[in-house]
Amino acid sequence: MKAILATNNMHKVDEFKRFFADAGISIELIPIKESGFTGEIIENADTFEGNAFIKADALCRYSGMISIADDSGLCVDALGGAPGVYSSRYSGAFANDAKNNAKLLSELKDVPFEKRTARFVSVICVRRPDGKALYVRGEAEGFILESPRGKGTFGYDPLFYYPPLKKTFAELEGGEKNAVSHRGNALKALAEHKEFFDTRCE
Ligand code: IMP
Repeated sequence: MKAILATNNMHKVDEFKRFFADAGISIELIPIKESGFTGEIIENADTFEGNAFIKADALCRYSGMISIADDSGLCVDALGGAPGVYSSRYSGAFANDAKNNAKLLSELKDVPFEKRTARFVSVICVRRPDGKALYVRGEAEGFILESPRGKGTFGYDPLFYYPPLKKTFAELEGGEKNAVSHRGNALKALAEHKEFFDTRCE
């Protein structure tokens, strides 16, 4: 079976593919750029659920295939939950990971370690051509460091310290991140709903 994965973030694509393979779910995931879709998707909802639906729905309508989208972000307690759904655009119109991380460090500059609590959140929406939609959510709790550690991943991973492993998410290797991450936890919840991918189900 094939499904569209409504993202062009190849780190996310890798995490999804690795999870589906490990879970024994045989679905070929097609990222947006291989789907032929060239439209613009405006993520203007104020919840992770809303934005995940907007992405999955756009690709499902375009392709007529099951479409899966993850909307995720970092919620920092000392910042009232920011950047939250604005995580990818935190530093403005020309945001990138380096600028977003720099802004986060600057906003937290006077906050001591024990108050730098944060969680990554991931909501996955699966949209079926028959109009049905499924949502699963995963979270991961940690602390924001004062300087980055590790490399090779994306987003806020180098600043996100995960106490049970005494490492940042950027210091984790291979499947280690999926085993504990927000997206990994959402994917584990998704694996409980394998039947939803069979569009003959009511
Ligand atoms: P989205 O692609 O619209 O869901 O935006 C997600 C944004 O949240 C990314 O651009 C990152 O800034 C941040 N983010 C979400 N998941 C992760 C993760 O696993 N590691 C690091 N940053 C993440």
